[in-house]
Amino acid sequence: MDKVAIVTGAGGGLGSVIARELAADGFQVVLADRDEAAAEAAAAAIPGSPVVAPADLTDAEDVRRLVDEVARRFGRLDVVVNSAGIERVHPLESMSEADWDTTMDVNVKGPMLLCRAVVPLWREQRSGSVVNISSRAWLGGSANTAYASSKAALVGLTVSMAVELGPLGVRANAVAPSFVRTLFNRQRTDITDQERMIERYTAFTPLRRLVEPIDVANAVVFLASERARNITGEVLHVCAGAQLPPIP
Ligand SMILES: NC(=O)c1ccc[n+]([C@@H]2O[C@H](COP(=O)([O-])OP(=O)(O)OC[C@H]3O[C@@H](n4cnc5c(N)ncnc54)[C@H](O)[C@@H]3O)[C@@H](O)[C@H]2O)c1
Repeated sequence: MDKVAIVTGAGGGLGSVIARELAADGFQVVLADRDEAAAEAAAAAIPGSPVVAPADLTDAEDVRRLVDEVARRFGRLDVVVNSAGIERVHPLESMSEADWDTTMDVNVKGPMLLCRAVVPLWREQRSGSVVNISSRAWLGGSANTAYASSKAALVGLTVSMAVELGPLGVRANAVAPSFVRTLFNRQRTDITDQERMIERYTAFTPLRRLVEPIDVANAVVFLASERARNITGEVLHVCAGAQLPPIP
């Protein structure tokens, strides 16, 4: 029986590549996204029989249905990748409570709801692994207080789960990418601004390179695999060095 992985946000720029690469590594993948068309498009690029599961990951009922369906169809769940995420860019002074709450709901509550629903399966299996897609922004960012806070909270969730679920044989790690060219960043910039931002950002990284979706997917596939069987509670920065403080 293939090992089974749920990838949330699998219709997105990173989630779609993560799902594809997990499938290439032998996983039966379940592509969960509230944007069904995007998840279908991502699934169409994956050989085998990927499953599309439309779900709003902030809705506990949707999450419960998703996990029940996976348990019914496959009888197991080896890996959860929480890639669904949003960013609302506002300086603190003009941050609305609604933007704060929505960011926290999608980026932190969603992963918590999904992992909470999967624990009974993992307890039965005595194995499992979660990879949470945090962000370099968890170390701080400008005008994205809610996003940075949510991604830091996701690291907190990751390390807490590593400690709590470790005795069940469950590992929890996070991958923290820096800027990647996906539609994600179009939420805050038009295409010209995005290219300008990429130029500035790349010049700031020690490797002077832009991170690509495949770089993030490679890190996820490694952490999800048996090769990482004794790695838990880690944050793997995929940032071309952008997580390091610049030399003054
Ligand atoms: N792209 C970057 O520069 C970058 C950098 C660092 C971290 N990240 C993180 O990587 C993850 C993926 O980013 P991406 O570039 O693929 O973004 P994306 O916008 O391309 O994809 C995000 C996907 O999440 C889905 N989604 C959002 N809210 C959802 C919900 N409530 N329920 C179900 N699905 C939902 C969207 O429909 C979308 O398909 C995010 O968590 C993001 O914070 C991205």
